[in-house]
Amino acid sequence: MAESDSKKKKRAPKTPELLRGFRDILPEEAWYWQHVRETAARILSDYGYGEIQLPILEATSLFKRTIGEHTDIVSKEMFTFLDQGGDSVSLRPELTASMARAYIEHGMFNRPQPVKLYSVGPAFRYERPQSGRYRQHNQLSLELFGSGEPVADAEVIFVARLLCEQLGLDATIHVNSLGSAEAREEYVRLLKEYAKPKRSLLCEDCKKRLTKNSLRLLDCKEPGCRALFASAPLLVDNLDEESKKHFVSVLEHLDESSVPYELDPYIVRGLDYYNRTAFEITVAAPPDDVEGADAVAAPLAIGGGGRYDGLVETLGGRATPAVGMAFGLERLVSAFKKTKPQPDSEKAPQVFLASLGEEATKHAFTLFETLRASGIRVRASFGKSGLKSQLELADKLGVVYAVILGQKELLDGTVIIRDMENGIQEVVDLAKIVDELKKRLKKSR
Ligand code: HAM
Repeated sequence: MAESDSKKKKRAPKTPELLRGFRDILPEEAWYWQHVRETAARILSDYGYGEIQLPILEATSLFKRTIGEHTDIVSKEMFTFLDQGGDSVSLRPELTASMARAYIEHGMFNRPQPVKLYSVGPAFRYERPQSGRYRQHNQLSLELFGSGEPVADAEVIFVARLLCEQLGLDATIHVNSLGSAEAREEYVRLLKEYAKPKRSLLCEDCKKRLTKNSLRLLDCKEPGCRALFASAPLLVDNLDEESKKHFVSVLEHLDESSVPYELDPYIVRGLDYYNRTAFEITVAAPPDDVEGADAVAAPLAIGGGGRYDGLVETLGGRATPAVGMAFGLERLVSAFKKTKPQPDSEKAPQVFLASLGEEATKHAFTLFETLRASGIRVRASFGKSGLKSQLELADKLGVVYAVILGQKELLDGTVIIRDMENGIQEVVDLAKIVDELKKRLKKSR
């Protein structure tokens, strides 16, 4: 067989592609992610939240017992599989259930209460990918265990809003109360009574919700259903007395600390563990990085949360009131990106280090580290050998100066500084290079 024939037959295998609903976060975005994470970590640490790192894989029963078997998240969206030992495990669809498990498992009720924790990491939901919705997203989850006081709800909302404010976001907080589990049961009966005669007008999802997850009827996004439920009985009008008092007190705390909010009787949340306060934080426009053709212009929830007094007990721990919230980091970062361009000074390299010849290149490593450690933003390409190609790269990077280290300079203990704008070169003492560059960079600013 001719060589060219055999080459033709060996077609390169197709590169496996990113899974639908998953995304790579490239270095260009890193500054935004780091800034958001650092801002959050600073605020949370100031407010007494300790970071906890949790596994992304947990027993499936953890999520079934907490989020609820009939919720969309558990019934349709979890990545669940049997591990090699035959146990059913799931990629976590959120972090709160794991937080509660860890609170119990590490006997945190023995610590001074409340115990405040936060965690950052990926969550997985097999949802239909669309604007700002991914099958793997990242959450910043903050939880306050061991206080049933309304001030704890207000604190969580206050801290969440503080982060939005510090990131320069124009965010709206929507607040509601879901009352006690008993009052909610009674309310769900009323809601079903209201909805049943209208069954044929409901969307397919709502028809199912009518039997299994009726509260979610209220937050259906279909315009037809929205219109139908606009005159439905409201949960806030059917609250038990204690929950009503609690809600009023939360709102008073928010008023007192000048946290703006909107009362939204349609916030019900997609997880079963909530009682009393429930809230969502939205931003006006959807983020730019739209995936899928069906992007909607509705306000996007960048975060949500509420009180979940029964969750720890549901998992077998001692009764522990708790409240918390989580931000979706993709959405938070995307909203932040719109408000603040990455400052040039934080990304642009200032100096390019070029080296000529083997000995000089060996030394260039040390010189690079000296420059970097002194705070100069320096780049180099140790693999490129010709001066011309190195200077071309320096030009592309837009550096102010190139530092050239050749064989002769190495012997003399000198380097060349080249002004990249006018091409003027000057020989300077190697020992004084940091001072020289800093002096020039200061002038060139
Ligand atoms: P959640 O509302 O289901 O609440 O999720 C929190 C946030 O994660 C949402 O507001 C949204 O920004 C983001 N998010 C959720 N799903 C996706 C997705 N598929 N793609 C992109 N972002 C998404 C919880 O998970 C609760 N654990 C919050 C909580 C903490 N409640 C009490 N403590």
